[in-house]
Amino acid sequence: MRVLVVIPTYNERASLPRVIARTRAAVPDADILVVDDASPDGTGAVADEAAARDPRVRALHRRAKDGLGRAYVEGFRWALARGYDAVVEMDADGSHRPEQLPALLARAAAGDAPDLVLGARWVPGGAVVNWPLHRQLLSRGGNLYVRLALGLPVQDATGGFRVYPAATLRRLPLDDIQSQGYCFQVDMTWRVHRDGGRIAEVPISFVERTEGRSKMSRDIVLEALWRTTLWGVAHRGRQLCGVLRGAGRRRTRR
Ligand code: GDD
Ligand code: MN
Repeated sequence: MRVLVVIPTYNERASLPRVIARTRAAVPDADILVVDDASPDGTGAVADEAAARDPRVRALHRRAKDGLGRAYVEGFRWALARGYDAVVEMDADGSHRPEQLPALLARAAAGDAPDLVLGARWVPGGAVVNWPLHRQLLSRGGNLYVRLALGLPVQDATGGFRVYPAATLRRLPLDDIQSQGYCFQVDMTWRVHRDGGRIAEVPISFVERTEGRSKMSRDIVLEALWRTTLWGVAHRGRQLCGVLRGAGRRRTRR
């Protein structure tokens, strides 16, 4: 299985080298693609240096900060154009432990061949380490809202440590994806589920970063809130139409 680990970066110069080294050690046969949005701190140059030293590492440079979702879509296209079998999403800050990648990849390659493998914090065996309480509440609340609004049967739809088989990405309309911020994760999970895809969750331990800063912002939270609400309203509307059509059919039969 040819695997590409896509790592989006914005101002991650302090953590990126260590994460690349840990990833190379944990999954020596996987390639790594850093997608940097012209980080002012010079992360792009750090990625280029890593790529110059190691043929398994590549760097993509985007013109300006344009959101996690768009960075990933560009990475996915890059992977599909080069025939990779699976694509991994992973943060650059060490929160997603590369040492847990073999377990995620093994799940993706298992007999029942899931269409998406989620690294999950909020399942038995999953954990968060040193994450501030407000972030834990936001993540748990966000996941609860996603389950209620969409009926999405997963425990951690917002996480960003996951494996997409290439076939799943090829089926998705990557051009249509509007989500810019972290709701991209929910968007993709929702699309796979609505397509009838099977989603597997593997417990991970999410470790709070020790360097740099989170790019989570109020705008990112608001975007997630309004988009999830719109998806939910559309979904519940479709469900209601289905129920009404069914009732109509029963009445005409009588
Ligand atoms: N290229 C690019 N462009 N990268 C970005 C951008 C952007 O606009 N915004 C964020 N990133 C990168 C960061 O540099 C990091 O590598 C990764 O995306 C995740 O950003 P963080 O800022 O570290 O996210 P977090 O730790 O607060 O968020 C966690 O929770 C999110 C919501 O549950 C992670 O688990 C995310 O993966 C998750 O989506
Ligand atoms: Mn992070």
